[in-house]
Parts: sequence; C-alpha cells; structure tokens
Amino acid sequence: MRAKDIRDRKGDDEPLTMLTAYDAPTAEILEDVGVDMLLVGDSVGNLRLGYDSTLPVTVDQIASHTAAVARVADEPMVVADMPFLSFGADPDEAIEHAGRMLKEADADAVKLESGPHTVKLTERLTQLGIPVQAHLGLTPQHENETGLFRQGTDESAATQILDLAYKHERAGAFSLVLEHVPANVASEVTDAISIPTIGIGAGPDCDGQVLTVDEVIGLSESVAPFSKAFGDVRGEMRSAVEDYVDAVRSGAFPDDEHSHYEDDLDDIR
Ligand code: KIV
Repeated sequence: MRAKDIRDRKGDDEPLTMLTAYDAPTAEILEDVGVDMLLVGDSVGNLRLGYDSTLPVTVDQIASHTAAVARVADEPMVVADMPFLSFGADPDEAIEHAGRMLKEADADAVKLESGPHTVKLTERLTQLGIPVQAHLGLTPQHENETGLFRQGTDESAATQILDLAYKHERAGAFSLVLEHVPANVASEVTDAISIPTIGIGAGPDCDGQVLTVDEVIGLSESVAPFSKAFGDVRGEMRSAVEDYVDAVRSGAFPDDEHSHYEDDLDDIR
C-alpha cells in the first residue's frame, strides 16, 4: 500500500487499521488478517529489547526490524519509526537515515515524532520521495520533558496540536498519528485536516487506530490505560514453556515419536 492509498481513505466509513510489527512471523499474521499499516515502532526498545524507554533505540536496530517485516509483508504499508535523535538536528543526516529505511530496509514510509522542528524536514523528505507519517500529542521521545501523560488538555495545548497538524499536512505528511489526547481534540483535528488521522488513546473519531501488537495480543506485562489486550499470548507462552520443562524433567520428552534410531548403531564403542 502506498501513501496515496492511505491518503485516499480519509473519511472512509471503514477506519484504517495499524499495528506495530517487529518481526517476520508477526508481520505474516498481520498481513493475513488484512491490517492496513505495519509500524516498526521504536516501542521495540521497551517491548522487545529490554530497554526502559524508546530513547536508546538506534537507526541500525529499526532498519534491521523493518527489513524483517518488509521481507514478508507485501500488501500492508510498512512504516519505519525514526528513532530518537536520528532526525531533528542535522537535516542531511536525517535524510540519510530516512533514506536507509526505504533503500536498505524496504520500508514504504517513515514516521517522525513531530513538532515545530519537523515541519521543514517533512516537506524535504516528501519532496525527495520519502512519504512521512507525522505524530503529535504524546511523543514518547520527549518523555524527559513531558512525561508519558495525556497531551493537549488545555486550550492553548490543543490549539498548538491543531496548528502543527495543519503545518504537517501542508508540508506533505500523508497521515498523522495522534497519541494520548482528549477524544474531542482528536475529533476536531480529524475534521480540520484533509489527511487521515490515526489515533492511539485519542478516541473513536479518528480515521484509523493504532496500538502496539504486544498489548493487543497480551504479550507485554502491562497495558496502557487507553490500550486493550485482546488475547493472552504471555499466558499461552508461559504454559507451553512450563509443559516443555516438566516433560523434559520427567523424561516424558523426547518420546519414541520424537526420537529416531538407526539399525546396527547400538554398539559403536
Ligand atoms: O513506537 C510506537 O509503537 C509508536 C506507536 C505507539 C504510535 O510510535
């Protein structure tokens, strides 16, 4: 799926679906189910790589996870999340990093945690042929400044989000993630701009929804208050591993069905 296909879904009755994906088997399942966009989020840092936050995630790590997802996902759009400090300081460096995601990792687009500092960069990347998904509201790469709290909760903060949404739309962003903002603010922004909004903790009126796949399948230990576990993969994994360990310790595995004996090799000493 291309940026144009996503842009064309603005205002559709059927909301766009986006989930994070960090590996090939997960991407295969998401594609099978028909998820529209696979986000190789920097949330891989805290969800899969054992970091406390997304800040340590590197360009190499996102490129590697993106390549794994893109190798198996044909239909959904694959969006690579640009990690902390890989953009926003030196524009040439940002273009190089974003370019790697398309040239080397086969992403279809990049996502930038956005602010006043990403308006020009969004325009430049789009002109160069790198589709940009903007991201406003809670941007976890700013957690040392804002914490991980709901954003846009007073008039001045809400109008700043709206203003930045307009600016990123004009700069060429093909869609906008709105994270952890009041549902009525997200609804206003969605009505105001002509590109699809993808909400996470932003109520039901966005043009699409995104969550981390780990929370949706119940793999992560905790779930954000605006997110929801639709399964219990952590429990399933634990129970399978317990059964395996019990079977090995008791001698029940491997049994005859899972063992192979070759004739005349009982006495090779
Ligand atoms: O990294 C991520 O998973 C994200 C989503 C939560 C939007 O940015």
